[in-house]
Amino acid sequence: MVYLRLRSARDKSLDLSSFSVHRQLSLVSGLFLAGPLLFLVLPLFSYSLSPPFPVTTMKASSIATALAGGTAILSAAVQAHPGMMNSSILEALKEADCNESGELIGDLQWLHPAELSPVAYLIKSILVDRFDAQSNEYYGYVPPLHSAACARDTCCVWWYIAEEMTQLFRAFDGQCTDAARGAIRLGFHDAAGWSKFTGDFGGADGSIVLAPEEILRRPNNGLQEIVQQYKFWYDKWSHFGVGMADLIQMGANVATVVCPLGPRIRSFVGRRDSFIPAPDGLLPSPFDPADKLIDLFRAKTIQPLGLAALLGAHSTSRQRFVDPARAGFPQDSTPGVWDVLFYGQTLAARSAPDIFRFPSDIVLAEHPRMFPAFKAFAGPNGQAPWDFEYAREYVRLSLLGVFNINNLTDCTRVLPSRTFQW
Ligand code: HEM
Repeated sequence: MVYLRLRSARDKSLDLSSFSVHRQLSLVSGLFLAGPLLFLVLPLFSYSLSPPFPVTTMKASSIATALAGGTAILSAAVQAHPGMMNSSILEALKEADCNESGELIGDLQWLHPAELSPVAYLIKSILVDRFDAQSNEYYGYVPPLHSAACARDTCCVWWYIAEEMTQLFRAFDGQCTDAARGAIRLGFHDAAGWSKFTGDFGGADGSIVLAPEEILRRPNNGLQEIVQQYKFWYDKWSHFGVGMADLIQMGANVATVVCPLGPRIRSFVGRRDSFIPAPDGLLPSPFDPADKLIDLFRAKTIQPLGLAALLGAHSTSRQRFVDPARAGFPQDSTPGVWDVLFYGQTLAARSAPDIFRFPSDIVLAEHPRMFPAFKAFAGPNGQAPWDFEYAREYVRLSLLGVFNINNLTDCTRVLPSRTFQW
């Protein structure tokens, strides 16, 4: 039975990759011929050229540019939408999710389009229209921290916070540190304490740090150190009006982009904090069966493709408590780098000796609804579609239980640059 289900998943993925290779070859040859001309015009039309996005994304891109105002720079085109070359892979995977993956969350569910703030419109475009959740917007000039100009600009203080976080998350060799992995996992565990059945209770509200009971729960084991770090940052920055929920989600995004090859995910601030512990029982166990895990994430509006993308965060992780005898073992051979090795090594018939694979990752990778995504992300062209999907799904995750999306501010421009060398 299991063998048959695996076969059908594998067959599907073969069709997928041959289709995408064909599409990519024609794109690459086209780019080669028109190369110099395209380099001149691509930055102007980058979003409209990108196949996965409908016309509405043009509007969202204009909004993004307008939001960033004079302080941000929209950088060159190709990197701004790395999903372009791999759109066929993503489209096929999206179809497998029966388009459920665009479900609205928070106050976006009931706000009329005319009522949406520009930031809420942008977030909706990411969730529904697959607008790229990665961005290369930077500050042109950051006012001094204690200046009136900084106080007037919501994002200014976040630039200083992101700088401080970067110091902690980047190791001397350019790879990401234990604190970075802890911050990424903390972002997940705070936000994932929410489901469609808990309504306006739980989610990305900072309660994993603010409500002391939460850190005592078994699934949060291993997060104690990073929770202490966030208490320190909160004490230091809260008098600038900075909240814990935003600190945690900004920290996860800074940590992700600090890891070499990590995506630069759009980052929003303005969430409400909560001191009430999130509902219990909403975090996954590494020993759960695949169907249970898929249902758990579906209840959070995350479909199998999104789950497959998010699980790739284990590309940077090291377990300590699943098998204490092998504490410190990573989940792929390169835990300091945000690469796709995790997908290939999880799919492999045998575990590499230097890694520890979670039972949950193995059963999910083999599940027919997940296998095509694992296979696509593991492939030679997997990095860009994975980054694209991870960023999009992380925006969703980081806003679970947030019911004031219409009042958020886009502070993406405070993030450090992506790194491709280490
Ligand atoms: C089925 C879903 C998931 C399960 C069962 C799961 C389980 C686990 C477990 C057991 C650990 C090791 C804890 C330890 O022993 O120290 C871990 C680590 C980690 N997880 Fe997950 N996880 C899941 C999904 C996710 C998601 C969605 C993300 C991020 C978006 C994530 C990010 C991480 C990171 C970064 C670490 C490394 C933490 C460190 O090294 O300190 N996980 N996960």
